[in-house]
Amino acid sequence: MKKKIKQFYVTTPIYYPNNNLHIGHAYTTVLADIINRYKKNDNYETYFLTGSDEHGEKIYLSAKKENKSPKEFVDKIIINFKNLWSLLGIEYDHFIRTTDETHINFVQESFNKLLEEKKIYKGKYSGLYCVYDEEFFTKTQAKNNKCPNCNRELIYLEEDTYFLKISEYKDWIKNKLETNDFLKPKSRRNELLKNFIPELKDLSITRENIHWGINLKNDEKQTIYVWFDALNNYLSTFKYKNSKWKIDDIWNKKSNVEILQIIGKEITRFHAIYWPIILKMYGYKLPQILSHGWIVDLDGKKMSKSMNNFIQPEKLIKKYGRDAIRFFLINNISIGEDGKFSEELLKKNINGILVNKYSNLINRMLSILFKKTNGIIFKSEKFKKEENEFDNLKDEFKEKLNSYSFFESSKLIINFTDKLNIFIDKNEIWNLKNKDLEEHLYFIFKEIWNLSILFSPILIDSSKKILEMFQEENHNFDNWNKNLDNKKIIKIDFLFKKID
Ligand code: MSP
Repeated sequence: MKKKIKQFYVTTPIYYPNNNLHIGHAYTTVLADIINRYKKNDNYETYFLTGSDEHGEKIYLSAKKENKSPKEFVDKIIINFKNLWSLLGIEYDHFIRTTDETHINFVQESFNKLLEEKKIYKGKYSGLYCVYDEEFFTKTQAKNNKCPNCNRELIYLEEDTYFLKISEYKDWIKNKLETNDFLKPKSRRNELLKNFIPELKDLSITRENIHWGINLKNDEKQTIYVWFDALNNYLSTFKYKNSKWKIDDIWNKKSNVEILQIIGKEITRFHAIYWPIILKMYGYKLPQILSHGWIVDLDGKKMSKSMNNFIQPEKLIKKYGRDAIRFFLINNISIGEDGKFSEELLKKNINGILVNKYSNLINRMLSILFKKTNGIIFKSEKFKKEENEFDNLKDEFKEKLNSYSFFESSKLIINFTDKLNIFIDKNEIWNLKNKDLEEHLYFIFKEIWNLSILFSPILIDSSKKILEMFQEENHNFDNWNKNLDNKKIIKIDFLFKKID
């Protein structure tokens, strides 16, 4: 019988190329890459989308400062985005740019379709507007006429605009937030229900006199609001000529594709209120939204360009390797909460876990294996009870990651590593001889192999070395408890070295 295809689609927000990226943006993208690789190991066919959100006044103003056209300006920054993703080992399927023709056509066509269906209508808007964030605010939100996001002065705007009929879906989205768990963690649902749902109004989705954006085909003075433009990227990606998947196969209500959209907490409102309503208007299904906290500095302040407290990952990757950064991001920040990042904390993590618990375990065992045998391991079934315990940890790990509990899944890998170290110490492997030693070594190397399957979506360079060590091809879960009888183990160098 043909195996049923399991499919997984993961997205990051598309980042604004008004500046280079920092560790906060890397956080989302690394999580997406980790789960994408994990799903591949678990026999899913996957699609990973990331990209850049290139329209809007913010970009226009940044380009103007450098005397460049917006397109010239963003083209240069996009090179840095892609470089960073390659340094971090991010294996996306598509890097989408909202200035791509395919995306622009899709947004214009979708707008017209919703207009025809009367889900969009023309009206007038007046209110307090932040040019930088491209958002309107109510008087209560805007204390002293200042933007609640960036503290810049707001301007009073009155103009023609097109509205999206959000208010008609107020009860629907309220009910979804109350009864459905499409948004994680749960605390975010309560925030939205309390702060945004009661005042939910139709959303103005076009602006007059915007210099850089997608124009309406039949009303050229009007430019489509960046968020309506941007959110549609999650659909338009499947309209590109080379796309391996088709939009309706993925998003239709009956599709079995698991869709995970990872975002940072300050854009939850757009992804968990407006976006589901837009999808509903199109007749599509709901995705899973995972809204993580921020990376903050040691004083607890959000890392950002405007606060000038951000850390750029490039130098750290060169100094400590990408595996260490990827591991830090999953292992130190609980999804719902903010998490601190600093070079010191990173070093502690490397020495305390990657060196002491993981890398040393492998090198200790390699040195015993090569001192006492010729590097070949022979099958033994002796430690069935212990094997079951490790298998259970693997099941728990999968359960956690399948429900997108990244942080908790990483703790289970460490638990696995600790257990293996305890087994080695308790049995004093270095004192064993002959058959007894052989049986222990087989079990330990098999569990090192299993452990590397768990680590492989996170520690991508180390995983390659482990594959060399076992002379194996891939870390698929089908290879769990692999028969390693007669396996010649190849010596490898330390995966991680202590940093002073
Ligand atoms: N362009 C929009 C997203 C449109 S998606 C249809 C945008 N771009 S952004 O570049 O400003 O931010 C992108 C993401 O980076 C957001 O999810 C935001 O939460 C995340 N982060 C920015 N700084 C961050 C931290 N310090 N920590 C964690 N994530 C942070 O918003």
